Amino acid sequence: MRDARRAAIMQMDWAALKAAVAQCTACVLHATRTNTVFGVGDENADWMFIGEGPGADEDALGDPFVGQAGRLLDNMLAAISLERGKNVYIANVVKCRPPGNRNPQPDEADRCEPHLERQIELIRPKLIVALGRVAALNLLDRDASIASLRGRVLDYKGIPLLVTYHPAYLLRSLTEKAKAWEDLCFARKTMEGFHAQNVIRNDQ
Ligand code: URA
Repeated sequence: MRDARRAAIMQMDWAALKAAVAQCTACVLHATRTNTVFGVGDENADWMFIGEGPGADEDALGDPFVGQAGRLLDNMLAAISLERGKNVYIANVVKCRPPGNRNPQPDEADRCEPHLERQIELIRPKLIVALGRVAALNLLDRDASIASLRGRVLDYKGIPLLVTYHPAYLLRSLTEKAKAWEDLCFARKTMEGFHAQNVIRNDQ
């Protein structure tokens, strides 16, 4: 049953995937949601930023990162010349708000995981940036501190993945903002490296 559901999701196109998320009742989070929060942005983006799950503002509006943390994320994107909707896609590990903004439970993230996996497959980003520990944990399938994961090119099913702090954490810990800035510079350099490799390959 579980495998069949996953296999069906893995075949979906964008329209089917959006409809499946909108109607999903696979975990308890559906019971308390106002809106599902599918994700937003360029469906052919090179960059994908992934957070943990919708908060109250996102639940109300149906779009990811639209609250205070979202405004900071938009500024972080602008710092590396990205703009919501232009060459960047923003999504979350879970598509429904965990009540009281608690972290998603492992079984909730697990049930939602095929949705995110299919989104990533359809977008085929060149680089994924995991925002915060919950996103990193779920995408990398291992628990580790952000400090130990930052500054490294990690891997999500063959796609390079970097980790930085969650914008909501940065709002509470202003001293970490400089580290997030370092991470964004590292991300930009990493992406520039991919572009340079492509130019060299195309010239050969
Ligand atoms: N925090 C997240 O992880 N995702 C959102 O969409 C909003 C806040």
